[in-house]
Amino acid sequence: MVKVANRMQGLQQSAIGAMTVRCRELGAINLAQGLSQVPPPPSLLAAGAREFENIGHTYSQPEGLSVFREAVAEKVKRCSGLSIEPATQVVATVGATGALMATLTALLDAGDGVIVFEPLYGYYLSSLQVLGLRPEPVRLTGPAFAVTEESLRAAVTERTRAMIICTPNNPTGRRLTAAELKIIAAVAEEHDLLVITDEVYEDIYFDPATHLAAATVGTLAERTVTLSSLGKSFSIPGWRLGYVSGPEQLIGAIRVAADSFVVCAPAPLQELGARALNLGEDYYRDLRAMYDRKRRALAAGFTAAGLAPNEPDGAYYLFVDCSAMGVATGAEAAEILLEHNLVGTVSGEAFYLNPPDVPYVRACFSLPDEVIAEAVHRLASGVLTHG
Ligand SMILES: Cc1ncc(COP(=O)(O)O)c(C=O)c1O
Repeated sequence: MVKVANRMQGLQQSAIGAMTVRCRELGAINLAQGLSQVPPPPSLLAAGAREFENIGHTYSQPEGLSVFREAVAEKVKRCSGLSIEPATQVVATVGATGALMATLTALLDAGDGVIVFEPLYGYYLSSLQVLGLRPEPVRLTGPAFAVTEESLRAAVTERTRAMIICTPNNPTGRRLTAAELKIIAAVAEEHDLLVITDEVYEDIYFDPATHLAAATVGTLAERTVTLSSLGKSFSIPGWRLGYVSGPEQLIGAIRVAADSFVVCAPAPLQELGARALNLGEDYYRDLRAMYDRKRRALAAGFTAAGLAPNEPDGAYYLFVDCSAMGVATGAEAAEILLEHNLVGTVSGEAFYLNPPDVPYVRACFSLPDEVIAEAVHRLASGVLTHG
C-alpha cells in the first residue's frame, strides 16, 4: 500500500476545524474559527466589480506586481516609519501562511531549532513539523503573558537558529512591548538568530499607542523578516494575499522559495489589494473602533457568565480563563460551552505543545454584531460548573 510521508505523522485537522463541524451539527454559534466574518471595505468590492475584466489575469513575477509591492512599502512607511525598498525587500505571498512557509524553507535547514512562544498560533507547529524543524517552546504565563529574559535565554540551545514572534498575538491579543522586543533583540543578536515576526493583526489594536513593528526596535531590522496579510486588515482572508518584507539578502532567497511553491500570489488580487493598502487613515480608525466595540460586547458576555476573559490589546480574540467552571482543561470547558450554551470556542490546549495549567478557551469576535449579541444572550444563562 502506498504510504503517507513520515513528516505527516501526528498532523491532523485542527481542533478549530473539528469544532466548526460540531457547531454546524448542533446549531451553535461558532466563535471558534478565526475567520473574519465582517464585510470587506465596500470601495474595494466596488473597484473589484468595476475593474476585474480589465486587469491582468496571468502570472505576476514571483515577487509580485510592482504596484502591490510599492503599496506595501508605502503602508509600512506610513504605519511603522520603516523604509523598505519595494523592488528588493518585499515579496507578495499566498497569505501570511505562504510567507511563513517560504521564509522557513528559504532560511532554515531540517533539524534547526526555532523558538516559539506559548500560547501560539497552531500553524507555526505544523509548518515546522512539515519542514523537519524543531520547535523550542517558551511558556508565557497568563494573564500577562509577558516575555522575560530568563525564560527566553533558558530556551536557547546549540541548535537554535530562529524565533517566531507574533504581535498582536493570536490567541492572547497581547502586543509585545518595546522592553520585550529589546530582550528579543538582545538574545537574537547574542546567538545570531533570525527573527520571524508575524504581524498580521498590525492594524487591529485598542490602546492609543500605534502598532510597534518588531523591525523598528534596536538592530532587529538586520535580522528580522516580517510577515503580514491583507486578510485581517481588509476582511479578505479568502483572497489569500499576504507579503513578507525584510533585508534584501534574505528576501532574495524567500522569493525563490515562494516561486518554487506557488509561482506567485494571485496576480489580479494583488492589483486590487494595492488599492486596499492605499486606503486612508479613516478606514483603519473605523476598523479599530468596530473591533473595540465587538471585543467589549463579547467580553461582557463571558464576564456575566462568571468567566474571566482577558483584555486583549490587539487582534480579534478573547482568551478566556474558565477556572470558575471547576474544570481541569480547556477542552472540557469548550465542551460545556458548546453543549450547554450552544457557543463554540476553541480549547486553549490547541495553542500549546503541552497542556497549560489553566483551562482556557479562545473566542473570536470577528463576527457581525448580531451574532455576538446572540452569543452574549446564550452566555447570559450562566455556565454549568463542576464540583
Ligand atoms: C497569527 C496568524 N498568522 C497568520 C495567519 C494566517 O494568515 P493568512 O490567512 O494570511 O495566511 C493567521 C490567521 O488566522 C493568524 O492568526
